[in-house]
Amino acid sequence: MEKTILFPKVGKFVHGGDYNPDQWLDRPDILKEDIRLMKEAGVNCVTLGVFAWSTLEPRKDEFHFEWMKEIMDNLYANGIYTILATPSGAKPAWIDEEYPEALRVDHKGLRRLHGVRHNHCMSSPKYRERVRIMDRKLAENFGHHPGLIMYHISNELGGMCFCPLCAARFRQYLSDKFDHDIDKLNHAWWATFWSHTYQSFDQIEPPFANGETSMMGLNLEWKRFTTWNMNDFMMDEIRTLKEVTPDIPVTTNFMDFFYLLDYRKMAPGLDAISWDSYPEFHNDRESFSDTMYHNAFNHALMRSMKPDRPFMLMESAPGLPNWHEYNKMKRPGVHKLACLQAVANGSDTVQYFQWRQSRGSYEQFHGAVVGHKGTDETRIFKEVAEVGRILEKISPVAGTLVKARAALIVDWDNRWAIDDVMALSRRTKHYDKTCVEIWKAFEELGVEMDIVASDSDLSHYDVAVAPMLYLLEPETAQNLKGFVARGGQLLATYFTGCVDDNQLCYLGGFPGDGLQELFGVESEEIDTLYPSDRNGLVFEDGRVWEVRDYAEVLNVKGADVLATFESDYYQGKPALTCHPYGEGKAYYIAARVNAEQMKPLFEQMAREADIPCRRKPETVEYHLRAGEEGSYAFYLNHSTEEEIVEDVHGRDMLTDEKIDGNLILSAYGTAVIKLQNVRLQPL
Ligand code: GLA
Ligand code: ZN
Repeated sequence: MEKTILFPKVGKFVHGGDYNPDQWLDRPDILKEDIRLMKEAGVNCVTLGVFAWSTLEPRKDEFHFEWMKEIMDNLYANGIYTILATPSGAKPAWIDEEYPEALRVDHKGLRRLHGVRHNHCMSSPKYRERVRIMDRKLAENFGHHPGLIMYHISNELGGMCFCPLCAARFRQYLSDKFDHDIDKLNHAWWATFWSHTYQSFDQIEPPFANGETSMMGLNLEWKRFTTWNMNDFMMDEIRTLKEVTPDIPVTTNFMDFFYLLDYRKMAPGLDAISWDSYPEFHNDRESFSDTMYHNAFNHALMRSMKPDRPFMLMESAPGLPNWHEYNKMKRPGVHKLACLQAVANGSDTVQYFQWRQSRGSYEQFHGAVVGHKGTDETRIFKEVAEVGRILEKISPVAGTLVKARAALIVDWDNRWAIDDVMALSRRTKHYDKTCVEIWKAFEELGVEMDIVASDSDLSHYDVAVAPMLYLLEPETAQNLKGFVARGGQLLATYFTGCVDDNQLCYLGGFPGDGLQELFGVESEEIDTLYPSDRNGLVFEDGRVWEVRDYAEVLNVKGADVLATFESDYYQGKPALTCHPYGEGKAYYIAARVNAEQMKPLFEQMAREADIPCRRKPETVEYHLRAGEEGSYAFYLNHSTEEEIVEDVHGRDMLTDEKIDGNLILSAYGTAVIKLQNVRLQPL
C-alpha cells in the first residue's frame, strides 16, 4: 500500500487552525507575537480569511489584498503554510444593500435582513457573480504563493432558501428529472391522493410551512434539490479557482452527520474531505465513552467518503466551544485524546477554531489556542503545544490509511424518508441513533467499520449491516445480493425495503425489490410498541434479548429461524433469521434490540467472515493505520481509570517504550504502537 500524503509540501501532519488576523490588523505587536506562539505550539499551517470579505473588499470593487499578502509571506518565511478560504460564508453589508436577492428566504417565506452568516441564497446570479469576482482575485493574487497548500471553500455550507429564484430552479430541476412530463411527477408523488395532481411544473412550490408539506415525494425531492443547488454553488466557486490554479486542492468543511445536505453528493468535487468536530464532552446524558464513540462515528463517516486518502479535522475547539447549551471545559488530557482520535480514525490534520480568541462579538468566549490573556502560560496552550510535539513524533503515520472490512450502510435519502414518513412512532424512529449504536458496538468489539452508501462498492467488505433500510435506491437490492452471493455476511433489520426512491411503496410484500429472495423472509406487519411495552427475542438455548419500539411479523420463505418472539399475538413467530445465499449469509432481525445485546451476533458475523476482533477493554478505542513501511495501532482510553490492553507488541511512539504483552493506559491515556512484523494485506 502506498502512502497518500495529503500535502506533499508539508510532508507530515498538518497542525493549525483558523487564523483571523483581519480582527487584529491595528495590532502589529499581536500579529508578530502570533508567529512566535505558533512556532512554539508546533503550528505548521493556518486557515486564512474564512470571514475576511469586508476587509478584502470593504466597498464594491475596492480590493485590499496587501495585508493578506504580508501575512502569508510572513507565515511562510516562518515555515507555516496557508489554507486559503474563500469568504462567501458571510457577506459584507454592501452586498446585501445592493443585491437584496442575495438574502435568504426561510420556510415561512420571510426574507432575512442583513446580518449573521451562512445565509446567502445559493441561486442568486448576482451573489454568485460577486463570489466569482472575489475568488478569481484571490486565486490570481495568492494561487501561486509558495505557502499556499489548499483552498477552503466558503464555510460550513448549509441551510435552505425558499426565495423565488430557488423555487424557479427547483421547478427546473424537477422538470429535468421527470423528463418534462408532469404526469410522471404526479405518478411518482402519488398526487391523486387528496387531489394533489399538478397540471404543470409552474404550480409546484417548495414545501413552505403554510403550503404543501404532505407529499412525501415533494419533501424528499426538495431536500435532494437543496443538496444539488448547494453543490452547484460550491462547484461554481471550485471552477473559478481551478480555472486560475488547477493544481491547488480544494475542500469545504463539513459538519458531522449533517442533516440537510447529502455530503456524499458533494464529495466528488472535493480533493479532500474535511470536517468540524465539536462534541459535547462530559455531558450528563451519556457516558464520556459514548460521546467519544459518537465523535468517532463522524470521523468514520468522513473517512469513508474518500477511502483512498486521509481526511482532515478542519476545526475543533481548544478548551471549549461557546454555542452548546452547556459549555463545559475539556478536562486535562481530553484535548490530546480527541486530537489523537481524529488521527487514529484516519485524519492527517489536527486543526482548531480558532488560533486567537476574539476580543468581542459572538464568539469572544469560544476557546482558542491563544486566549484573552495572550500568552503561552495557559493550560490550553500547553495542551495544544503538546499535541504539536506528538504529531511530530508520529510523523511516519501521516499518509497511512485505515482499512475496514466491515461496513455500515447509511443513506441520507433513507434518513430523510424515515423521518418524514407517517408511520411507526413520531418519537422513536431514531434512525441516526440506531446507526451510531450499531457502529459503536462493532468498534467496542474491536472490529473496524466504515460507513458507506447503499450504492457503494462493497467488494472490499466482508461484513455489512444495513439498519432500517426503508428506502431502497435503484440497484441497492442488486448490490446487496451481489455482496452476499460472493460470501458477505449481511444484517438487515425491521423496516427494510418498503419504498422506492420516490417513496412509493413496493407492491407484493416487504422487503421489496427482490430482497425477500435474499433474506428468505417476508414482513407482513410492523407493530409499534409504546415506551412501556416490551417483548423478547428468545433463542433456543433460553437466552432472551429485550425488544423495544418495533416488532415485525415475518413469514419465513426459506430462512433458518434463530430466535422467535417471546410474547403477544406473534409469540413464537420468527424474530431473527439467517438465510444462506450464494457463498454468504443474509440475517434479518425483525425487532429493535439494542446493539449492546446484539454483540454476539456481530461477533458471529465477524468470525464467519474471518475478521479478527481486537480484544481490549470496551472503553479503549482501537484503530489501525497502515502503509508501506509499517502499521500503527492506536489505543485511546476513554475512561478515567487505568486500563490494560493485552497482547500488544511493538514500540510506543509516544514514549519510545518497547511493549511486549500488556499495554497500560492511564486515565484518558493514549498510545500509538508501531507494530512489529504486521503488514496489512494489500486490498
Ligand atoms: C463552526 C464555524 C466556525 C466557528 C466554530 C465555533 O465550526 O465554522 O467559524 O463558528 O463553529 O465552534
Ligand atoms: Zn434563494
